[in-house]
Amino acid sequence: VLPGLLAGVRALVTAGPTREPLDPVRFIGNRSSGRMGFALAEALEELGAMVTLIAGPTLLPLPCVTKHVQIETALEMYKAVMARVAECDLFVATAAVTDYRPAAPAPTKIKKETEALTVELVRNPDILAEVAARRPAPFTVGFAAETDHLEDYARDKLERKGVDLIAANQVGGLVGGFERAENALTVLWRGGRKELPLMDKHRLARELALLIAERYRAHAGG
Ligand code: C5P
Repeated sequence: VLPGLLAGVRALVTAGPTREPLDPVRFIGNRSSGRMGFALAEALEELGAMVTLIAGPTLLPLPCVTKHVQIETALEMYKAVMARVAECDLFVATAAVTDYRPAAPAPTKIKKETEALTVELVRNPDILAEVAARRPAPFTVGFAAETDHLEDYARDKLERKGVDLIAANQVGGLVGGFERAENALTVLWRGGRKELPLMDKHRLARELALLIAERYRAHAGG
């Protein structure tokens, strides 16, 4: 039964980093490789879901999923998600969305004419929180990367953003997280939790996809 666990389920998955232009040649970004998100998208597809993957720039080969949408900035990711969210049953936010963007990117390359440079940044929309606040909302899954108080912050995020399931991972230590092939997750939902111990990101993605499928089906009423 496993391969069909998510048969007919339309999933939207965000992955990778976003890049926020400072000028035509420079950007603000982060170290997300997209590896966990790509592996998870593929694992959900393997369980029968039709996955649309909305991904920021990565060096990885595209995974085998139903549809790809490539974007660069947080606003592009936001628009790509919002254009499709009404037709999805499951929304999984693995993207490391850059929280702030330059308020007014320079139209031409910034020259180094001054000793100091100040750039005004403005907040990007929280895609996951907005999707979770929709009525009706798809079943929503988010990630929490924290350096400390992992479970407390993740529980808080679950409640504050109103998401159905949060996968939390410890970052900044010696094991797991950004730019690594292995990861461990503490998965939380209202009324439950499960530890997925340190393992290869592909195996971890498959375990997490199974757990998502289980919770999705419990939520959908069977
Ligand atoms: O609040 P924080 O950024 O730690 O939350 C992380 C979760 O929220 C991840 O699932 C991430 O994909 C999602 N997120 C988002 N849009 C943002 C920021 C985070 O979808 N602007």
